[in-house]
Order: sequence, then C-alpha cells, then structure tokens
Amino acid sequence: MEFFIDTANLEEIQEIAQWGILRGVTTNPSLIAKEGRDFRTVVQEITDLVDGPISAEVNSYDAKSMIEEGRELASIHKNIVVKIPMTEEGLKAVSVLSKDGIKTNVTLIFSLNQALLAANSGATFVSPFIGRIDDIGYDGLACIEEIVDAFITHGIETRIIAASIRNILHVNQSALLGCDIATIPYKVFKQMAHHPLTDKGIESFQKDWEQHTKKVENK
Ligand code: E4P
Repeated sequence: MEFFIDTANLEEIQEIAQWGILRGVTTNPSLIAKEGRDFRTVVQEITDLVDGPISAEVNSYDAKSMIEEGRELASIHKNIVVKIPMTEEGLKAVSVLSKDGIKTNVTLIFSLNQALLAANSGATFVSPFIGRIDDIGYDGLACIEEIVDAFITHGIETRIIAASIRNILHVNQSALLGCDIATIPYKVFKQMAHHPLTDKGIESFQKDWEQHTKKVENK
C-alpha cells in the first residue's frame, strides 16, 4: 500500500518526505484554509516537495465551474490531481475532465454505490472517508472492504485511497483489506514510526554498550 500525506502544511510534508516513504499528497479546502495562504501558491510549493499525485480540490459545486477550475488547477503542474466532491454535478465534471486526460480524485465517498458511480465516470482515484463514517456510529473499514472487493471482482482500475484516517488501526486494516493507498495525517505518521518496545530496546542497547565500552577501557 502506498502512503500519501493528508495536509497542506509544507513543514509536515517536508519532514515525512525525508523518510523516503511519501508517494503523494492530498489537500482539501479546510486543510488549505488552516494554512491561511494563497491556494495556488501552496499547491505549487507542494509540487516542488513531492514527485507524485497532488490532490487539489475545486471550490465550486456546479459542473461547468468545476470543469473550469479543474482545468486551471491541472495547468499548475503535471502531477496535479483534481479533487471533486461526490455529487451529480461532480460526476459530470469528472466525466469531462477524464476525457481531457486530467486525473481526478472523487472525494467525500461514504458508500460502495458512490465509489462505483465515481469509477464509472472515469475517476482516477476514489476517496472513501473512514473516520467520518466511524464518527456517526457506522463502520468505516467495512465500507473500504466492500469497495476493495467490488473493484477486484469487476476489474475496476480506479485506485482506492483510504481517507479520513484517524489512527494506526485504520492504516493497518486498510492495508490488510487491500486498499491501494492511505492518505495519512502527519500525527498518525509519527505514531506509526514509534513503538514503546523500540524505545525500550534502544535504551537497553545504549546502556549495555556504555557498560561494555567502560569494561574494555579498564582492561
Ligand atoms: C481526504 O482526502 C480528506 O482530505 C481527508 O482525509 C479528510 O479527513 P478528515 O475527516 O479527518 O477531515
């Protein structure tokens, strides 16, 4: 499973990119707003940091405007993927943009039906939101499982991005279920890299090594 980072914060992207594990970035209007900077500039700067799909979301909701905005976003850089919300107007826009050869990521997906519609409209990626399904008392991972199974059964090539990831379990389960990609917040990446037994192991290795060095010096 590939890892994308779900943020518009350049420091976070830079830090995780240095681990050599980052294959792409997803942003959304809320993440861009959190940075308080110009949308186009932020997106452009992200393309300098990561050489992979960078999802930039449209901020309009009728097909005509989404198509215009999508074309403009795609002109920023060859790696831009136009992120479009899963609505009837969104499907129309994806269908036109995909025929133009523009890559799209259909976002705010909460069911297999929506994922199938998006895939059939020509979406390059679909983003089912695990955390937000869990938040309303349903099973976000079950939704991922249905989409993965159906896409495999029907040989659908649209790639599945596990989104709205809140914890390590979401990442592990998405991998086990066969999801193509997980888009992960910075905080969860940090949790993934750490384990209390790793810290404890390093501590005891250091202690034993210091004692060994002292013994050898005193011989
Ligand atoms: C996906 O592309 C979205 O940006 C993101 O995963 C939403 O996550 P949230 O539910 O934590 O806001």
